[in-house]
Formats: sequence, structure tokens, C-alpha cells
Amino acid sequence: MKIVLAEKVSPATLAILQTEPGWSCITADKIKGSLAEELKDADALIVRSAVQADAALLEHAPKLRVIGRAGVGVDNIDTAAATRHGIVVMNTPGANAVAVAELTLGLMVSMARSIPRANTTMHAGTWDKKSLQGSELRGKTLGIVGLGRIGLEVARRARAFGMHLIGYDPFVAPVIARENDVALVSIDELFRTSDYLTLHVGLTTQTEGLINKNSIAIMKKGIRIVNCARGELIVDEALVEGLKSGQVGGAALDVFTQEPLKNSPYFDLPNVLLSPHIAGATDEAQEAIGIQLAMQVRDYLKLGVVQNA
Ligand code: MLT
Repeated sequence: MKIVLAEKVSPATLAILQTEPGWSCITADKIKGSLAEELKDADALIVRSAVQADAALLEHAPKLRVIGRAGVGVDNIDTAAATRHGIVVMNTPGANAVAVAELTLGLMVSMARSIPRANTTMHAGTWDKKSLQGSELRGKTLGIVGLGRIGLEVARRARAFGMHLIGYDPFVAPVIARENDVALVSIDELFRTSDYLTLHVGLTTQTEGLINKNSIAIMKKGIRIVNCARGELIVDEALVEGLKSGQVGGAALDVFTQEPLKNSPYFDLPNVLLSPHIAGATDEAQEAIGIQLAMQVRDYLKLGVVQNA
């Protein structure tokens, strides 16, 4: 078997796959020519989010049987083209859920207490206590869009902060929401009543542009929005407009339509907190993802067992 690991993944991934007798693992730093060339005789491809496994690339991979996505979102993989070629696409849902949830809560606290500005002013030698009075999360309403593994981890942690939880997810079983103290509401009600709103859905034709001019117009004035899911869920021009007018009180964005983010209007807005797509990037999450994915790919190639496809 030949497995191409086209992006840097946890050493655990390599350790598991390399121990299989006769299997050869080509890591990103060992790819000499193009990825397409390397895939000519490959059985498996492992990617994170940077490599675009599109239809054109898959044309060069006649033997490929499986693509493993080290992470959750498979929007960098042409799943329809993969299906046409008989290639199984697997991801690792859940493995980075706690990491994403922890950053989400961190961003909310950072907005509520202006932690980044407190730090910047202190480093500049300024004792700016007067302008740094914040607000509490306790008693505020958190609207969670998407109650999958990540959304529920966010809910559990936000409950510990004393927040009132509402959620929108057409697919979640009501009992799951109830058990986590999340009241299920319509998306419009969520927009209207949330003090904080956090997105935890994948990118689909239904979710693209969910936060737009119209949805922002019905939101509670001063709402704070967190996006650790996908940049395309937000229409940037509408959010920028909302942030400038004060309709949106603040936003914390970890993901962007174009990554890396360059020349963005967000750079000039003081009420936006930015991070470079790091929500799932913890030692623990990357290790868990690496192990889970390696085992899934191995079990598929050896036994034909399909998991998380
Ligand atoms: C994911 O989809 O798992 C996260 O956005 C992290 C990543 O893309 O690597």
C-alpha cells in the first residue's frame, strides 16, 4: 500500500500506518514532484485543509481508494468526484470538538472583557483601566447554530458560565437539546434574541451566507458573533456594515472565505477579534485526529471497514 500524507499531520498518524508490513508512507516533505504525480500509484491520500482534492487532482489517482481528512470539514475535497471514482472520503468528527469549543468560549470571554485590548495597552505601558470595564456572560443568551458534537461541547461550557442557551439545528433530536439545557428555536428567533451567537455548522448550500444583511437586520442590537466554523457562512460586507453601524457589537472570527486572510476590511475594525483558523489546533486534538484517522484508513485498506464517511 502507498499512502500519501500531503500535509503535516500528527506523528501518531505515521506511527500507526508505518507499522503495517509493506506499507509505504510518503510525507509532505518527501513529495519531490507534484502531488498529482505522487498520487499515480497511491492507495490512500491524507489531507488537512490546505490541499484541494478536486476533480482534476483525482483524475491523476487511478488507484486511490480512500481520502482521509484530518479534521471535520470536507469542503476542500470534491466528494462528488471522489464518489464517481469509487473513492471513500473519511473525516474525524468529534476529535477536535473540545478544542473548538474551548476557543469559542475563550473568544466570547475575550470580547466581553476586552482581553486583547487590555493586553495591548499594558504592553504599550498604558494603565487604561477606565476604558476596560466589561460585561459578564452570566445571564446572557447564547444562540448556538448547529448542535452537533462541537455545538454541544460549547453548550456544556457556556452553561457553566450561567448563560441561557438557545439553539437551532433541524437535525438534532429534541431530547439531546433538552439534556443539554438548550431550548430549540427557529433560526429567526435565535437571531432576534441572542446576545451572543456562535456558528457550528458545516459549509453547505443551505448554510452559505447565513449571516447576511437580512439576518443581521433582525438581530438584537449589539449582538456579538463568533465564527469558528467556516468563513463562507458569513457575508463579509454585511458583517462589516453591521460592525460599523453598531448593530453588531463585536465579532470574533477564526475562519475566512479566503485563507490566509489578506487586505481585509476587518483589519481596521476595533470591535473584531481575529485568529488564523486555530480553533482545532491543540496538541490534544491533533493527536486524537491523527490516531483516529490513521486507524480508520488502515481499517478500510485492510478490512474494508468504512467509518465516518
Ligand atoms: C476542521 O474542519 O476540522 C477545522 O476547521 C480544522 C481544520 O480545518 O483543520
